[in-house]
Amino acid sequence: MEAAICYSQTSTVQQEDGMKLLNQMNPKEGDVLLDLGCGTGFHARDVAERVGETGRVVAVDPDRSRIEVAKNALDSNPPTNLQFIVASDKDFPADDIKYDYVLSSCVVHWIKDKESAFKRIYNSLKPGGKFGFTSQDDPKYPDILIEMLQLCGPQVFQETAQSIHWKSASYYKELAESIGFEVTLMDVAERTISFPDIEAFINFFYGVFHGKFDRTLPAIDGIREKYKGQSLMVTVPRLSAILTKPLNI
Ligand SMILES: C[S@@+](CC[C@H](N)C(=O)[O-])C[C@H]1O[C@@H](n2cnc3c(N)ncnc32)[C@H](O)[C@@H]1O
Repeated sequence: MEAAICYSQTSTVQQEDGMKLLNQMNPKEGDVLLDLGCGTGFHARDVAERVGETGRVVAVDPDRSRIEVAKNALDSNPPTNLQFIVASDKDFPADDIKYDYVLSSCVVHWIKDKESAFKRIYNSLKPGGKFGFTSQDDPKYPDILIEMLQLCGPQVFQETAQSIHWKSASYYKELAESIGFEVTLMDVAERTISFPDIEAFINFFYGVFHGKFDRTLPAIDGIREKYKGQSLMVTVPRLSAILTKPLNI
């Protein structure tokens, strides 16, 4: 729960990137949207307002703690058109519901079998429906992050840095087209993330990696000492994509 709360407090970059994509997708009143990998629910809550009572938002995430945080953020009168469910790309609701939109902000790199996930998403969309996702274009981890995760030990390193399956924009384009999607947008743009100090850097990745490393571990005090009093900047190749299921299928 601590890591999920930390994620909700430190995920401004993910929230902004997802919101930019959502504005490009532009769901409207009455639309049905799946937020795949909704995290702590920032985008799902926003979309629920956009689609109104005649629309519906299904927001799923396999991390139970993040779903709890998402539910707790709803006020005492939660919207009736928004559901938070513990589920993943493999078992999100798809049997008796078809979506106008699938939004997946900052998630696809966590999914190992991208082909079966993209096929399942394609099949869950209505004709003309859109799948929008953000990720990074085959990035390199910042040296300081690798250094810190290695100090936490081989098991932690494996469960964090090595558990992410990055792919390039050209990989996603080829995969999408082989499934039958039309590529409406495939954009890569550099983005610099600024951290005021080393603690903000550690907290950001503690949230991102679901608390898989112990941020109080004495082993990482050396990193704290080394970067004490410094602000940090990380530049990443952000990827935004919108894929459209053809109307005439
Ligand atoms: C960086 S967070 C993004 C959360 C949210 N979409 C946002 O923009 O703030 C990545 C999310 O993907 C979820 N995730 C990981 N594997 C997944 C899978 N196989 N299917 C769906 N979601 C997954 C994680 O639990 C995590 O909440």
